[in-house]
Amino acid sequence: MSNMILQVKELKKYFPIYSGFFRKQVGTIKAVDGIDFSIESGKVLGMVGESGCGKSTAARTAIRLLEPTAGESYFEGTSLFTLTPQKLKKIRKEIQIVFQDPYASLNPRKTIRENMGEALLYHGVVQDREMQWDCVAETLQQVGLSPDVMNRYPHEFSGGQQQRICIGRAIALRPKLIICDEAVSALDISIQAQILNLLLELKENLNLSYLFISHDLSVIRHISDHIAVLHIGKIVESRPTEALFEDPQNEYTKTLLAAIPRVELKHRR
Ligand SMILES: Nc1ncnc2c1ncn2[C@@H]1O[C@H](COP(=O)(O)OP(=O)(O)O)[C@@H](O)[C@H]1O
Ligand SMILES: [Mg+2]
Repeated sequence: MSNMILQVKELKKYFPIYSGFFRKQVGTIKAVDGIDFSIESGKVLGMVGESGCGKSTAARTAIRLLEPTAGESYFEGTSLFTLTPQKLKKIRKEIQIVFQDPYASLNPRKTIRENMGEALLYHGVVQDREMQWDCVAETLQQVGLSPDVMNRYPHEFSGGQQQRICIGRAIALRPKLIICDEAVSALDISIQAQILNLLLELKENLNLSYLFISHDLSVIRHISDHIAVLHIGKIVESRPTEALFEDPQNEYTKTLLAAIPRVELKHRR
């Protein structure tokens, strides 16, 4: 078990439900209700489930962007839930997130160079402007864009290109783990495949691990080594990808599999 980049145990995240003028708590949403998962170094864990089943909450709580209700989480063996804020900041650089909507996660008033470069200075990856330029140029090439685009603004790019920029911004910080939260869900099918292939290529070249979240099992299948199926805050099945597709055990997993169009399954094989 020592080869795990992230290990999560008995994780719970509950949200209070308030109602009325006095904002009295009338209930609890058990968004994540006692889940265990781990990501092996260099591998991709796919987390799949319907919208609202707790995928984003699970990921955000596991890396303590949300305070946990209960449980434990270890990044390379270090307990994230007991770390001091200063130490947490250092680890945060090693874990990056790529979101569904690339345009919303870029600053529209800033150039690509500024969008990608600011975190580099903040986290001390580069020490001055010149290093920042070099790093941004190199990163743009790694994500399949020309360094010439660095003085342009986000709106000048297509959705797929914008997502490449967001992926570039993440990898420029030299993370070990990237959380892709529905990172291709807003893109056209053909573009989805390109971005998935880019992610796989970067994973090999940069020795990354991914937590890849999607509601779409066919996307998850393409990229994941192992799949965890989440259903109403609980993991109902967790298996190596091929085993899950060959021989699903859980009824809910079977329902998800049945929802994938047959043509697509054939095509992907
Ligand atoms: N900040 C919040 N406050 C209250 N409820 C929330 C909050 N964030 C998420 N939830 C609820 O938690 C559940 C899981 O949400 P989420 O993790 O976003 O699901 P998913 O990413 O799988 O679509 C949903 O019922 C959602 O409404
Ligand atoms: Mg989500």
